[in-house]
Amino acid sequence: MKVITNTILSAALALGLGSAAQAAGGPSGHVDNVDFSFDGPFGGYDVNQLQRGLQIYTEVCAACHGLEYVALRTLADDSGPHLPEDQVREYAKQFEVFDAELDDFREATPVDHFPASNLENAPDLSLMAKKRAGFHGPYGLGINQFFKGMGGPEYITALLTGYTGEEKTQAGVTLYENTIMPGGWISMAPPLDDELVEFEDGHANDLQHLAEDVSAFLMWTAEPKLGARKQAGFAGVVLLTLLSVLLYLTNKKLWAPVKYGRKD
Ligand code: HEC
Repeated sequence: MKVITNTILSAALALGLGSAAQAAGGPSGHVDNVDFSFDGPFGGYDVNQLQRGLQIYTEVCAACHGLEYVALRTLADDSGPHLPEDQVREYAKQFEVFDAELDDFREATPVDHFPASNLENAPDLSLMAKKRAGFHGPYGLGINQFFKGMGGPEYITALLTGYTGEEKTQAGVTLYENTIMPGGWISMAPPLDDELVEFEDGHANDLQHLAEDVSAFLMWTAEPKLGARKQAGFAGVVLLTLLSVLLYLTNKKLWAPVKYGRKD
């Protein structure tokens, strides 16, 4: 009897350990959920948050990172930061792009893209919010993913707030301890801090808020048509529900003579 119990116990343990090992493929630290406006089946972007995120990106992250897949004109999109056209033109002017026709550099215009990364080892951020996942699974019914998404922007928020303050030098490179990085160390110095960026409207600018705002902006760069996709999905669900009802009623009507024995 004891042997059997032991076997069952160790099998259960092995299963349990197996799933723990699978989970270890993700970020090493715990990624907290953030209630972003765009979570959930009906969520959309918060224009003010995207504008603050753009400001943080421009003043801080753009020194090293690029957004080479994002066209500057999309900053005017009403499902995006929704800047007025003249402001987008003004914004574009701060970047220089190489023009093959002129064979020279010129000021960027809204038809150009954001520049690529300045710093060779800083990855392009255009799609980063979709490349990384904060939550792994799907566990259970996968219902968490449905309501909270895959956690890409949460991963970025957790990364930006996950520095412990420890640093070390390895082969001439300074590494900073970060609880989110697999391995625990990253070569990006902590880019954000409380009150590093000031907003015109005096919006909260502590580290957590700054991290969330820039993460929301990077979610928009990675998925600018999120609202349209969710609307199409919803329309699809409504149509399929209608179709199911119609098919059910048709089925009932077709088989009624058989079921109730009518000969007509
Ligand atoms: C001083 C240059 C510099 C600045 C400023 C900077 N970064 Fe980085 N960033 C880097 C470098 C270098 C890496 C690659 C680090 C590595 O892989 O060890 C990196 C990596 C990243 C990553 C990828 C982490 C991963 O999972 O691999 C993200 C996300 C990121 N940065 C976001 C940001 C955001 C958002 C900002 C602005 C708030 C920012 N960075 C500002 C240099 C910078």
